[in-house]
Amino acid sequence: MKASEDQYPFLRACRRQPTEYTPIWLMRQAGRYLKEYRALRKKYSFLEMCKNPELAAQVTLQPIDKFKLDAAIIFSDILIPLGPMGVEFEFAKGEGPVFRHPLRERKDVERLRIIEPEEDVSFLLKAIQIVRKELEGKIPLIGFCGAPFTLASYLIEGGHSRDYLLTKSMMYQDHATWNIFMEKISEVLIRYLNAQIRAGVQAVQVFDSWVGCLSPRDYEGYVLPYSKKVMDGVGKQVPLIHFATSSSTLLELMKRAGGDVIGVDWRVDISEAWTRLGHHVAIQGNLDPVILFGSVDLIQKEVKAILNLAKGRPGHIFNLGHGILPNTPVDHVAALVNMVHEYSSR
Ligand code: CP3
Repeated sequence: MKASEDQYPFLRACRRQPTEYTPIWLMRQAGRYLKEYRALRKKYSFLEMCKNPELAAQVTLQPIDKFKLDAAIIFSDILIPLGPMGVEFEFAKGEGPVFRHPLRERKDVERLRIIEPEEDVSFLLKAIQIVRKELEGKIPLIGFCGAPFTLASYLIEGGHSRDYLLTKSMMYQDHATWNIFMEKISEVLIRYLNAQIRAGVQAVQVFDSWVGCLSPRDYEGYVLPYSKKVMDGVGKQVPLIHFATSSSTLLELMKRAGGDVIGVDWRVDISEAWTRLGHHVAIQGNLDPVILFGSVDLIQKEVKAILNLAKGRPGHIFNLGHGILPNTPVDHVAALVNMVHEYSSR
């Protein structure tokens, strides 16, 4: 770690070093709950904003100007590397991502292109450079990607799915295609994360948002080797956060796949997660995002409960258990950030 980075509580906590308070950032902290974001969205589509470095940098900084967050996360999406792989998709209003030609057969998978990040996602790398300049000496910047399983599920299903029927069918019934697919996605993600690190991000998070639909045995056999490959491909250059939801049955395996920090959702008690994971790993989480719709008293009670369970142990990064929801009251976000700092102050 560079000497200058010793000052950042977030990076110290990622490395399980003591901090004067528990650092906090929020998944999806730049987004629709902010009026500043909605105002820009009236003029530009979501993808236009992702692909314009100045706008992406501006949106990344919106929550930083409002709240005393301990890290910024670059404004982008886990689906961004899929475009240059040769896949067309759009964000349909109210529906989330929609893929016009889902990938279901060997020939679809074979057509996928391995990306050259410096050429293919130069807008993202430029946005990272702009934000790093703005944040120098203030807080660190996190880069991210989706994990192989979560990205494969979007590509195969063509959007969000309830039961992952098509994804699991490929996984169970056509091992050869599944393996080529996961191999290709992993190679792209290694390049994608390393390019973000070269551009200046000081930590990375791997989002395996939908992997909780798998049994531990299937995760271990069909997914873990590829998630591990991606995280090994980043090495120890910067701290890595490995996040999933509905993953309480997978925690030990997630740790084996990699990550200096394991991100957990609210379905698991944070002290239980830590006992199971062992104390050689840091933990990020895990307030239910819906708590922010309740009273300040309720938020206070839940924040205290989580901090008590974490016992001030070095290596806790406070976060929500999943992304912040649209319509979350902005003053409650401010209250949350201040409470975490105040109650954890040591
Ligand atoms: O955390 C941040 O502030 C950084 C930006 C970020 C976005 N998406 C912006 C976004 C990050 C880290 C993501 C990750 C992401 N994207 C995930 C993993 C995290 C998770 O929530 O599980 C997933 C599964 C996606 C895919 C995705 N992108 C979906 C399903 C949707 C539509 C649903 C929704 O919440 O709108 C998006 C769109 C999206 N990504 C928006 C934002 C701010 C909303 C776009 C809009 O303005 O309409």
